Amino acid sequence: MKNFKRYTVTSALPYANGPVHIGHLAGVYIPADIYARYLRLRGNDVVFIGGSDEHGVPITIKARNEGVTPQDVVDKYHTIIKKSFEDLGISFDVYSRTSSKTHHKTASDFFRKLYDEGKFIEKTSEQYFDAEAGQFLADRYIKGTCPHCANEEAYGDQCEKCGTSLSPMDLINPKSTLSGNQPVLKETRHWYLPLDKHEPFLKKWILEDHKEWKANVYGQCKSWLDAGLQPRAVSRDLDWGVPVPVDGAEGKVLYVWFDAPIGYISNTIEWAEQNGKDWKKYWQDEDAKLVHFIGKDNIVFHCIIFPAMLKSHGNYILPENVPGNEFLNLEGDKISTSRNWAVWLHEYLVEFPGKQDVLRYVLAANMPETKDNDFTWKDFQARNNNELVAILGNFINRTAVLTQKYYDRKVPSLGELQPIDQETIAEMAQHKERIESSLENYRFREALKEAMNLARLGNKYLADTEPWKLIKTDEARVETIMNICIQLTANLSIVFEPFMPFTAQKIRQLLHIESLGWEKLGQMNLLAAGHLLDEPFLLFDKIEDEAIEAQVQKLEATRQSKIDSTPAVEAKELVSYDDFTKLDIRTGTILEAEKVAKTKKLLKLLVDTGIDKRTVVSGIAEYYNPEELKGKKVSILVNLAPRSIKGIESQGMILMAENADGSLSFVSSEKEVNNGSEIK
Ligand code: MF3
Ligand code: ZN
Repeated sequence: MKNFKRYTVTSALPYANGPVHIGHLAGVYIPADIYARYLRLRGNDVVFIGGSDEHGVPITIKARNEGVTPQDVVDKYHTIIKKSFEDLGISFDVYSRTSSKTHHKTASDFFRKLYDEGKFIEKTSEQYFDAEAGQFLADRYIKGTCPHCANEEAYGDQCEKCGTSLSPMDLINPKSTLSGNQPVLKETRHWYLPLDKHEPFLKKWILEDHKEWKANVYGQCKSWLDAGLQPRAVSRDLDWGVPVPVDGAEGKVLYVWFDAPIGYISNTIEWAEQNGKDWKKYWQDEDAKLVHFIGKDNIVFHCIIFPAMLKSHGNYILPENVPGNEFLNLEGDKISTSRNWAVWLHEYLVEFPGKQDVLRYVLAANMPETKDNDFTWKDFQARNNNELVAILGNFINRTAVLTQKYYDRKVPSLGELQPIDQETIAEMAQHKERIESSLENYRFREALKEAMNLARLGNKYLADTEPWKLIKTDEARVETIMNICIQLTANLSIVFEPFMPFTAQKIRQLLHIESLGWEKLGQMNLLAAGHLLDEPFLLFDKIEDEAIEAQVQKLEATRQSKIDSTPAVEAKELVSYDDFTKLDIRTGTILEAEKVAKTKKLLKLLVDTGIDKRTVVSGIAEYYNPEELKGKKVSILVNLAPRSIKGIESQGMILMAENADGSLSFVSSEKEVNNGSEIK
């Protein structure tokens, strides 16, 4: 095996059109972070790259739907994603974004070099064009009738009803989603990467030279290669992305999958500039080992297309490995951003403060390494209570408490060893190699299990030696036992550092030590006799049924709203309790209602708020006739500053629930209450 001097570890750049969820974490970021932390702990030269993928059609669609610019969309999610990764302890050396200047330049130069060297083919084809909007239509911007199932709402790339992938030409009666008009066919010119020409190289490089890749990754590559590769367009007609740097290519940008992986390079360049490093050593030097962490939907891009780009360019190393994972499901169903079927990282961090490592542990333990796997809240609770609390936490706590009780927190000295001590020490020494081999072969679950076995070993040792029984009769023996337990605890602080960095830090605090290098793993005498430990404190606490129930309920509510086909509206920012109590919301009754002249939506209402009778203008005329409103029970915000609407002073706001189709309905109390009752 080759000895590498440097490691370039990348993790797929998440699309900045939504927050990160547990599926992303278990598939990509947790394994990548474990790997990067392990390498650093071993003293290797590592750069761990992350960043947001900010181009592509879905981002432009989201922006249109929300009436904002694509830049607004990516600014919002880049910030959320970056912060949530930091809070979870994902130890990126750099987390940048593909809308950055450096990236635009790097991607543009990359394209231009291939272009100048004639490495692309140029082809003209006919594509749908919206004459009114004056632009070519990305597949997702075209809707029409599915030729397979007659669904009238099929998209140009896929029918979501029957699941068939489509091309826009397949649609019957196509319509532009921009103008609603029928699009016309118009000629357009694009650049293609001739993957067919790279096929012989790719076949040898993957199928022969990289037989060690994970079976799921290798298998997917093989089926692509067996089917034969076709030229792939690397440009698009779109106004969001990296402009194609060629004269006459106005209105064209690089295909998102062309520019995004170059983002790994751009981000390394940014990191190098900020840290006085030479980025080329990590991308262009044979001594660097490049590893891409990705999910299975990214395999073709990282194993075939990006390597073909790098090879064509000529100056770059190729990935040594691409440990792609399968998918994580949630409570038996596929995680889905659009259906809000997910556990969102930024929400978890708020709802389970201080429990980053619990999530890291549970996701690593359930990592979908060889097949899809399932996350359930019950399992989350069980792993916390039965493993983190009962095994790891328990051993370390007993060690700390007994050392305090018997030795005033001072490490006692190691005396004569008995067979059980020798066996335990020998067993401890063996973990290092096993865990290394698991980690270096991207078997993170196995590595974690081994790490946990070290804590199990500690518990077994305590149970077998029973120092609490010996303390009266054989004090010298107890010194030895506690010394071994303390050394074992120090070992745990090393071995858990890649998996649970917050916990490793706490263990070091308990032991009152600085970080120990990986090479110390398996050793005794990490803490000298007489060294003073800190006050004992608990590493983990039990997660009660209520907390789990609340999460299950939250998901249930999503399932319910899915049935009612109400897409959950994105959660708003947190507000303080004080902010909430500023709102004075009361129950009231509508006394009179009439249309506001010359408007479609507005009704003028007279409401009995229990405090007074006041006028409120409300935009509900499309959903309610004035006649049916007399006597309706409503909720009303009474301390909203008065506003003049169509010349009428509106004093307050009636609360309405908005359904997915935009229709409105009053919010009223479930039992009979008096007007003016406070809603809080
Ligand atoms: N944004 C892509 C996804 O979420 C991943 C891009 S990885 C990169 O599937 F290599 F292109 F950056
Ligand atoms: Zn269909």
